[in-house]
Amino acid sequence: MSNQLEKVKELIELRAKARLGGGEKAIEKQHERGKYTARERIAQLLDEGSFEELDTFVEHRCTNFGQEKKHFLGDGVVTGYGTIEGRLVYVFAQDFTVFGGSLSETMAQKICKVMDMGMKMGAPVIGINDSGGARIQEGINALAGYAEIFQRNIMASGVIPQISGIFGPCAGGAVYSPALTDFTLMTEGTSYMFLTGPKVVKTVTGEDVSQEDLGGASVHASKSGVTHFTAQTEEEGIATIRQLLGFIPQNNLEEAPIHPCSDPIDRMDDLLNEIVPDSPNKPYDMYEVIGAVIDNGEFLEVQKDYAKNIIVGFARLNGQSVGIVANQPKYLAGVLDSNASRKGARFVRFCDAFNIPLVTLVDVPGFLPGTGQEYNGVILHGAKLLYAYGEATVPKITVTLRKSYGGSHIVMSCKQLRGDMNYAWPTAEIAVMGGAGAVEVLYAREAKTQENPAQYLADKEAEYTKLFANPYNAAKYGYIDDVIEPRNTRFRVIRALQQLQTKKLTNPAKKHGNIPL
Ligand code: HXC
Repeated sequence: MSNQLEKVKELIELRAKARLGGGEKAIEKQHERGKYTARERIAQLLDEGSFEELDTFVEHRCTNFGQEKKHFLGDGVVTGYGTIEGRLVYVFAQDFTVFGGSLSETMAQKICKVMDMGMKMGAPVIGINDSGGARIQEGINALAGYAEIFQRNIMASGVIPQISGIFGPCAGGAVYSPALTDFTLMTEGTSYMFLTGPKVVKTVTGEDVSQEDLGGASVHASKSGVTHFTAQTEEEGIATIRQLLGFIPQNNLEEAPIHPCSDPIDRMDDLLNEIVPDSPNKPYDMYEVIGAVIDNGEFLEVQKDYAKNIIVGFARLNGQSVGIVANQPKYLAGVLDSNASRKGARFVRFCDAFNIPLVTLVDVPGFLPGTGQEYNGVILHGAKLLYAYGEATVPKITVTLRKSYGGSHIVMSCKQLRGDMNYAWPTAEIAVMGGAGAVEVLYAREAKTQENPAQYLADKEAEYTKLFANPYNAAKYGYIDDVIEPRNTRFRVIRALQQLQTKKLTNPAKKHGNIPL
């Protein structure tokens, strides 16, 4: 064998060794836990054969605690680039088979390299996280590595999409980087996110808690709102990440890809002309409205189990990506509260940062009153949503279906928050508050002097309702651009989107705003 062939053989052998990560036994253990390896995950995520691995031969440099004797090619992360539906993406997948995917100084360098490349090329970065946090043996070098990653997460925010898959236990620094990214997805039963694991919790606070109860997928999907998506399996999680990318652009200077649309733009849905119940206190399901309006009913909902009184997610209208924000009358009557406001605000800001038009469907009775909300800072949280809509410069189309009262009317993308097209259904009620509440404030004292106070209040309520519980009062002032037939909503919104394609609006130059955090 020639010298050169000898060297090629050595390369092939080294690559084969690198592909084994922490070794066959560790891979077996990973599979037994119901998890795939880092390379298996990347292979599923990217278009077949598109992956180009980088830094395969990087090794850690630690000599503490016998680490000098334990070396794995590539260290605990697999990095590189490839395509999803033909579009360039950068990826890193932490390898739990190598020191539990814990972050070394060199691992951080590998991750930072692909993040820098993502920024340079204007392409999304997807991280698959499965890591015990900072590699304890490396001390401050591991911490510095995390800080390097966080800094890049922050600089990339609003420039390129950043998506985190959580596919295993993630602790310490391994959860802060995902928290800084745009979207997080967790797998049910195999992934956990916590700052400190159950053992440390027990030591510090005495609390006995399982990994699942402390930071399982359902906890973060429904209680904390930390995760945006959950999946039953890794395959499902990866499919969701691929689907999500299809709705969003490569970077903040591009538009989302246009998909061919097989759904007629003038498709009418008679269901919408009858969906609003006669009684204002009776709910209906906003999902039915969304499904009837968007292309082929394809809706990728974000944070579906968190603050269910507001629905947010991606859809397409005539093939164009839009962000849908909608109150859900079926849950807490669609009221706005702290969690719903935070959920809505973050989604609105993502869409605005990445040039995705917003379609807002309104049926909101107001903000949830009471000490529970006030002590929780609903003033600040509500202001987040107000701020997000007010600063957004993407096309904004609002359709008011039924209630739109008081502060919540303003917050939900009203005309004065630079709403571009504000439509209302004939069933819309746009007023300071509902009839019963209004007459209570205005006429309670006077009612007491009447022969029949109840009748007096009922008459006043009827008078108020006639005057305000309709869309025409707002339309009279031009606050509503048109009152539309519900079944025609899809067509009217698509036409508005077409009109708004050349919209140009910029905010005053500033270092950055000061959103109420
Ligand atoms: C070095 C680690 C490690 C770490 C795990 N391992 N975490 N090695 N540094 N941080 C190693 C284990 O020693 C073990 O090695 C292998 O990875 C697999 O771990 P297991 O414990 O056997 O797995 P499992 O039972 O599934 O538990 C996973 C885990 C647990 C929940 C992640 O390992 C754990 O609690 N680790 C520590 C988590 C933590 O507190 N991290 C915080 C670090 S501080 P062997 O050789 O036995 O296979 C931090 C600060 C940054 O991150 C803050 C920035 C804001």
